[in-house]
Amino acid sequence: HRHLLGIEPLAPMDITTLLDLADDYVTLNRTAKHSETLAGLTQINMFFENSTRTQASFEIAGKRLGADVMNMAMQASSIKKGETLIDTAMTLNAMHPDLLVVRHPQSGAVDLLAQKVNCAVLNAGDGRHEHPTQALLDALTIRRAKGRLHRLSIAICGDIAHSRVARSNIMLLGKMENRIRLIAPPTLMPSGIKEFGVEVFDNMAEGLKDVDVVMMLRLQKERMDGGFIPSEREYYHRFGLDSEKLAHAKPDAIVMHPGPMNRGVEIDGTLADDINRSVIQEQVEMGVAVRMAAMDLLAQNLRAERAAA
Ligand code: CP
Repeated sequence: HRHLLGIEPLAPMDITTLLDLADDYVTLNRTAKHSETLAGLTQINMFFENSTRTQASFEIAGKRLGADVMNMAMQASSIKKGETLIDTAMTLNAMHPDLLVVRHPQSGAVDLLAQKVNCAVLNAGDGRHEHPTQALLDALTIRRAKGRLHRLSIAICGDIAHSRVARSNIMLLGKMENRIRLIAPPTLMPSGIKEFGVEVFDNMAEGLKDVDVVMMLRLQKERMDGGFIPSEREYYHRFGLDSEKLAHAKPDAIVMHPGPMNRGVEIDGTLADDINRSVIQEQVEMGVAVRMAAMDLLAQNLRAERAAA
């Protein structure tokens, strides 16, 4: 693959290859913390939407692999003077970057940009469409915690309708032959989602029954564009994960959240901090390793393509 734009075009073998390499990078990150894998390559991070985890981990990942990393301060860029996304991308492309990491509020914007530039593009989240490195880091976290990434029962709970994290995870976990249960109020469940081979619930007790993994999602009010916004109190009562609701899952079920987390809205703060159940900090650690693996593999392809030209 030239780019990493989504989980949709990936084969199970692509996913396994990337996760195996990411496992090696977990070891590197806990020891030497440096390699020269991306030496001589230029990585530009363009975040048109807020980020803590994704932006920081892509920057750390590039630096640990020896790339020259530049973070574009989009708030201070000429986008504010009316320059279009494509003109901005073409301008940066003329500076010969090798890896462009892009987050954008519009679904499809990163795919469009990838068609215009001659370097590798990594989607760091586009609208409600995809967040492939998040799904990959979730997969690595699950694989390390459960010892496998197939035939698990996985619940994804909360604001599925507005979530690119849910969309990428549904595709990835489905490709790896897991059983996926979606739990959400009907207003936050996308129509037609059953086509993805998932089971749908609007009740936590039923949906969490005997699952191995519980993945919580944030209420994404910024994407509700004037539509129905549930009251946080009512939402927490019915759909917020606490130890009482978690008791319906398997006794060794793990609790995940991609972040940013709203404590007391979709998850009880004490449970989120419970290191016997929550793997939220492991997810962040895996995020650096997965992004290193993704950039390593794309750089290998880019170098091969350039050598053949
Ligand atoms: N999970 C995630 O994408 O977090 P950020 O928005 O902080 O990058």
